[in-house]
Amino acid sequence: MTTETLSEKVRALAQSKGALLLAHNYQLGEVQDVADFVGDSLELARKAAASDARLILFCGVRFMAETAKILNPSATVLEPAPNAGCPLADMLTAEQLIRLKREHPDALVVTYVNSSAEVKAESDYCCTSGNAVKVVAALPPGREVIFGPDQSLGQFVSGRLGRELILWRGYCPTHHRITVDAIDEARRAHPAAKVVVHPECTPDVTAVADEVASTAGILRYAAETPCDEYIIGTENGMLHRLAKELPKKRFYPVSSLVTCPNMKINTLEKVLRSLETGQYEVDVSDKIAQAARLALRRMVELV
Ligand code: 13P
Repeated sequence: MTTETLSEKVRALAQSKGALLLAHNYQLGEVQDVADFVGDSLELARKAAASDARLILFCGVRFMAETAKILNPSATVLEPAPNAGCPLADMLTAEQLIRLKREHPDALVVTYVNSSAEVKAESDYCCTSGNAVKVVAALPPGREVIFGPDQSLGQFVSGRLGRELILWRGYCPTHHRITVDAIDEARRAHPAAKVVVHPECTPDVTAVADEVASTAGILRYAAETPCDEYIIGTENGMLHRLAKELPKKRFYPVSSLVTCPNMKINTLEKVLRSLETGQYEVDVSDKIAQAARLALRRMVELV
């Protein structure tokens, strides 16, 4: 089947089922193109929370679909593939977080949304890369703060606020492939371009960028900056979104190696099959969902 035929089938079936199709900025271009809404983690969580659709098909990775289910428990949330995980989320378990909390009994826990539902259930606040600085800035000064699982985002927040954080040493293997050498090389090839990177990149990389932002923030920055060319330091699915939204500007990846294999698991065929079969339904136990909901609500409600 051609991409066009598959897309038409997906659209028709989604419409007849009243399904809301959400896709993250890192999804394959054809999956983004068929979605009702494409965005960063925060925008997608807010969309899912506010939706009155009975069926949400979430094209992203597992923790994003779990977040949608926790924030909108009466909706059926489907993911097109059951194996789209996140290695960063897997780097912190609930048991490890409980142990860390015991070592710092007065600390508040801020957890990056790239984490399991069990870890969120042990947290006071969740955040995304889009609002991590705001979430931590809103905490009482002088109070210890545990931040995990992404150490790079934690280091970025800590630097922006001049506030020490107790960091968990997780990292995103995809963003850690971006190096200062690769940025220097890209700058030599495109000397007029601005460099904008994701805060999951290492501190030496964020230090040399013109801007550090979530995927939605990268789009905003490129839309609002009077410059025609950008070197993009995040997962390369973002290039599709940028080229589509800002066709008069030019975007270059820092490197062709910045691809997240999990984000590329969802294909149009899988999206169609998911709508046809009702697989794979995301299930979070009531106990875990209830405990995680408060931390997630604090994340989506903080403007
Ligand atoms: P954004 O929230 O910036 O879209 O990032 C999501 C993510 O998983 C980064 O690896």
